[in-house]
Amino acid sequence: MQNPILVALDVPTGAEALRLAQQLAGVVGGFKVGSELFTHAGPSIVRQLRELSCAVFLDLKFHDIPNTVAKAVAAAVQLDVQMLTVHTGGGRAMMAAAEQSAQEASRKIGRPAPLVLGVTVLTSLNSNELSEVGVEPNVGRQVERLAELAVKSGLRGLVCSPLEIARIREIVPSTLQLVTPGIRGPGDKLDDQKRTLSPSEAIKAGSDWLVIGRPIYAAPDPKTAAQRIAESLTTA
Ligand code: C5P
Repeated sequence: MQNPILVALDVPTGAEALRLAQQLAGVVGGFKVGSELFTHAGPSIVRQLRELSCAVFLDLKFHDIPNTVAKAVAAAVQLDVQMLTVHTGGGRAMMAAAEQSAQEASRKIGRPAPLVLGVTVLTSLNSNELSEVGVEPNVGRQVERLAELAVKSGLRGLVCSPLEIARIREIVPSTLQLVTPGIRGPGDKLDDQKRTLSPSEAIKAGSDWLVIGRPIYAAPDPKTAAQRIAESLTTA
């Protein structure tokens, strides 16, 4: 089994991110660079992570007109990231353009295409907030609708809450890669996460990749914390 742990490097400086990556490389499957770190440290943090041979998940949730998203995806391919995110709410043409750009830009430079992941409904949004923006207020139904649209648009993966895995698995092809944040072990603080599964529960439910932030990077010893999680997966 591949190592499914992706550590969210939600730290403000490139130096801190790199220190964590140096400690954790070899123990985890890769690192997620989100908007905070990317806005602080820029593309150079991605290059530095790649120099350590770490897989990089660039989580910038692109959402724009198809042409702009296609160019942003091509730029991410140049940076040699292994996964990236787009908002499924950007629509079918936007998602198709993202996937096509990932394939074409990678082919040109002879690299495997990164996995373009669709983000459905942000887990911070509830039914009232969906109504306010004029969207189907039933969160589950909206997630299913966007998941199906992502598949029709040619995406090969989705980000979803661990509690959505089972339902999504029923309606998407079994090859679709599911990436889940909201992961907490029995002894972990919940922080602001409300609906969580443990690492082994999420894998059993059908997740392919686990995004884990604070339980690893905020632990007194991040490497030991990551090793414990990795062991909990092999012994489950
Ligand atoms: O620290 P924690 O494990 O809660 O970090 C989870 C990571 O996953 C953060 O980078 C957060 O932004 C991201 N995320 C999330 N829930 C979503 C989408 C992304 O927690 N629905």
